[in-house]
Amino acid sequence: MSTPALLEARAVTVRFGGLTAVDHVSVAFGEGELVGIIGPNGAGKTTFFNAISGVQPLTGGELIVQGDRLTGRAPHVFSHHGIARTFQTPRVFGDMAVTDNVRFGLQFAGRGRSGPPSLRDEAAILRLIGLQAQSALPAAAITPSQQRLLEIGMALATRPRLLLLDEVAAGLTEAEIEAMARLIRRLRDELRLCVVWIEHAVATLLRHVERVLVLHQGKKLADGTPSAVRSNAEVIEAYLGDEVTG
Ligand SMILES: Nc1ncnc2c1ncn2[C@@H]1O[C@H](COP(=O)(O)OP(=O)(O)O)[C@@H](O)[C@H]1O
Ligand SMILES: [Mg+2]
Repeated sequence: MSTPALLEARAVTVRFGGLTAVDHVSVAFGEGELVGIIGPNGAGKTTFFNAISGVQPLTGGELIVQGDRLTGRAPHVFSHHGIARTFQTPRVFGDMAVTDNVRFGLQFAGRGRSGPPSLRDEAAILRLIGLQAQSALPAAAITPSQQRLLEIGMALATRPRLLLLDEVAAGLTEAEIEAMARLIRRLRDELRLCVVWIEHAVATLLRHVERVLVLHQGKKLADGTPSAVRSNAEVIEAYLGDEVTG
């Protein structure tokens, strides 16, 4: 690659006692990429996100973010290096207004940090994620799918270069999933973000990403285009079967 990757994971390993949740995973993500991560329950997807956002200390390996070695650093250091993420269970402040949740993200990032016009302030971010009408409502009062959008808005408020999304489409209706996928594509197209998107619903994810990483028992099993992954014999054998070929 000619430009340094936004994030490079080198043999990243996370063990919990005797269990190896992430096993020597090496991968690089670059600007403007839209990458999916799939794998059965317990494959290590969330733990991998925790590792590459500084939330989970590594047992082994290195993390290089825009050329800087961040291995062992705290989550806020990863945030300042342009990495933002959502959690599998949305973490919004229920008593606070929707707009104040986004303001919290902006304060966390520091308002001085430059960002594109669509991430300029609370109003711009709420417009981007489609929650202007809910701006004054307490976050606890909006629907679960709107809370997922809000969590994306809070992540965007830190003006990231790399956005990590953990099962943001889980529990959404088909129409909501399509809207979510359109939003994710806009973030990539208009903001040049690299988006890495974990989703349990394999077929959905493969429709919307250009590259897909397959994790299985903590190991990287495949990394390629959706069509290459769909026809990868090891992937089919490991777990996907008719889930991807159908
Ligand atoms: N904090 C933890 N302590 C112990 N085991 C954990 C912890 N977090 C995850 N695990 C285990 O690590 C494995 C991978 O989990 P996870 O990363 O959540 O998988 P996925 O997101 O792919 O479903 C599972 O076996 C899970 O039980
Ligand atoms: Mg998970």
